Amino acid sequence: MGKKLVTDLNVAGKKVIVRVDFNVPHKGDKITDDNRIQAALPTIKHLLENDAKVILLSHLGKVDHKDPEKTEADKKKNDMAPVAVRLQELLPDNKVTFVNATRGEALEKAVAELKEGEVLLMQNTRYEKGESKNDPELGAYWASLGDLYVSDAFGSVHRAHASTVGIPSHLPSAVGFLIEKELKYLGKALDDPKRPFVAVLGGAKVSDKIGVIENLLKLADKVIVGGGMAYTFYAAKGWNVGTSLLEADKIETAKKFLEEGAGKLVLPVDTVVANDFENPTDIKVVASNEIPEDYMGMDIGPKSIELFSKELAGAKTVFWNGPMGVFEREQFAAGTTGVCKAIAALDDCMSVIGGGDSASAAKNLGFAEKFSHISTGGGASLEYMEGKELPGIAIIEEK
Ligand code: 3PG
Repeated sequence: MGKKLVTDLNVAGKKVIVRVDFNVPHKGDKITDDNRIQAALPTIKHLLENDAKVILLSHLGKVDHKDPEKTEADKKKNDMAPVAVRLQELLPDNKVTFVNATRGEALEKAVAELKEGEVLLMQNTRYEKGESKNDPELGAYWASLGDLYVSDAFGSVHRAHASTVGIPSHLPSAVGFLIEKELKYLGKALDDPKRPFVAVLGGAKVSDKIGVIENLLKLADKVIVGGGMAYTFYAAKGWNVGTSLLEADKIETAKKFLEEGAGKLVLPVDTVVANDFENPTDIKVVASNEIPEDYMGMDIGPKSIELFSKELAGAKTVFWNGPMGVFEREQFAAGTTGVCKAIAALDDCMSVIGGGDSASAAKNLGFAEKFSHISTGGGASLEYMEGKELPGIAIIEEK
């Protein structure tokens, strides 16, 4: 069975509301990475080719609704207008109209004037205070603008918001091609992985990854842990971590994982440490259990890269989320680069990157093509790999 797909809907002449995730990195008017816009194109093009009137809704960044000054500044920073410009460039044969409103006459007029084969992009959904609260009135109002709903915002389906859950509770609904693709790869890793299945988890905090570590310790054959969160595991082993990132209240959890994951959980054996985070004057590699008092861990060391590469060799399924160190700075990027290269080199392996920083790292290194799938959702792919139900998918009609 499964969820209805956009191809299951009769869209000709219909106003189709599509929730996309156009939360793209941008500096002012300049979009610095349009990957999420590109990823939504197959669904949008399918709808346009089938004579639908396409109404696109997305959030962009965060909008603080508590402090009016901040609200205005956030709105200015997260204006959706530049996204419409980029979208029009990507869809040269179809008219793309941007409407600088999230409710009211201007929006309703633009919807009424929308023709088959045209696109309307609404202003940022988060301009509305009720969006993140899944305000029922807002969901019903937006639903009243269309005839059908398609969810293709994989990056946002872990949020139960008015645009992701409110609208489809009022309209016939389906998922788009991006969500279909995301579920195909992530679902395969989760439900039916070819073995050996190796998970590589990094990033700053254990607290962000507890659910995913727990689930992957059950499902994967090896769970490699690097990045900032490794230091809490070092502390759980009783090792000194110097001034490294440490979540003292997660040491007990890390101890539990070390016990449960004995033989499965792999930690770095050496660590690149520095005497200062901002302006390091002394950088060296030490054994992971020998971090000096005044030094902090910045990356995994060369022996760890070798060990992790060995653990990855022969893997048939890999899920990677999170960098191995402070990879934005060249001096501390070797660990993340090394792991990325080791995964990219695997033959006959389904390799999936769970969005976020690891996705940027793979792209910046020019390895994006070497992976089977790079998820467009950081938080969403992690919650999916935790085995959690994603509300924005759960609400979509079954076939
Ligand atoms: C993301 O970038 O992970 C998604 O667009 C969701 O954004 P959010 O964390 O602001 O809800």
